Amino acid sequence: MAIALALLVIVIGSVLFHLVTPWWTTPLASNWKQMDDTLTITLAVTGFFFVVINLFVVYTVWRYRHRAGQRAAYEPESKRLERWLIGITTVGIVGLLAPGLAVYADYVRPPSNALLLEVVGQQWQWRFRLPGASGKLGGSDARFVSAANPLGLDPADPAGQDNIVVLGNEVHLPLGRPVKVLARSHDVLHDFFVPPFRARMNIVPGQVSSFWFTPTQPGRYESLCAQLCGVGHPNMRGFVVVEDEAAFQAWLKQQPTFATTQAAPSAVAPAGADALPAQGRALAQSKGCVACHTIDGSPGVGPTWKGLFGKTETMVDGSTALVDEAYLKDFIRNPQARAVKGFAPIMPKIDVTDDELAALASYIRSNGGASGDKVQR
Ligand code: CUA
Repeated sequence: MAIALALLVIVIGSVLFHLVTPWWTTPLASNWKQMDDTLTITLAVTGFFFVVINLFVVYTVWRYRHRAGQRAAYEPESKRLERWLIGITTVGIVGLLAPGLAVYADYVRPPSNALLLEVVGQQWQWRFRLPGASGKLGGSDARFVSAANPLGLDPADPAGQDNIVVLGNEVHLPLGRPVKVLARSHDVLHDFFVPPFRARMNIVPGQVSSFWFTPTQPGRYESLCAQLCGVGHPNMRGFVVVEDEAAFQAWLKQQPTFATTQAAPSAVAPAGADALPAQGRALAQSKGCVACHTIDGSPGVGPTWKGLFGKTETMVDGSTALVDEAYLKDFIRNPQARAVKGFAPIMPKIDVTDDELAALASYIRSNGGASGDKVQR
């Protein structure tokens, strides 16, 4: 009897919770209302069966409760009941899956006039590429990946020269134009997800995954990685800014092309007399260092850079080392050579040129510590 009542409370509570929950989805900002519709269908079908099955259990537990002198009859086979159950289950499952199949077929079949957007995932950062005036993306291959060419674009492919390279984690898109996303990964399984667009796709290393959407609301939306891809996974975030065509074109003009980045790899960073720490800050962003290292003293996967310079670090083996320019450069070049006490030895080896190394060390130094000089964040 108590069990029947408890089940009844769970059923009523679940339905009420669904209706009054504050955790509704974010407002839709793309053409994919169908994604919301399929979710609603799934909730309706599973919700219906959840309520019916549990109420049936409540009824039987109450109706056939133990009474002195009564014996249960044993009737294991009922062809009629089985036919009904198979029939209803089949209709329910078809109703659950069929709309999703139709939506998915649309989702991976972009309109032919779609703007191309390449998304490249790497532990633990995002990079982007957009076509130039020709509207084409040049070829890429893992063997071309280097510090100066992090996307691994084919230097000999003429179609790639005017491609817009975005080495930060924020990309802009024009309002109301279909976008075909081509997603690649440099290392492990990632998943590019922008919740308000209701659009996401797994990114499998070694292949290009694709889907499309049309942004329908201007705004700055957070994009995130939706596959557990290592310790830096929760920090693998970025932004997609949706704006009108004029603002988008203006933003596009400010971004370097692949050819520019090859001519002068520092073209992506600000120039000037005190450029080194600023360049290091841009590198810390584009190389993904900031996924694990904070500059405000808060704990991260790796040591915070606030006050790191000039500090004496203790290693796992008990030895100590002064954090100076040489230490930082050594550590970035060869992160596995020694392990700092209190941190897992998981820092990935990143490709950096000598100039980039100097810029990074100078930026880390500028974040304070014994002999650090302050720099504007
Ligand atoms: Cu990339 Cu999680």
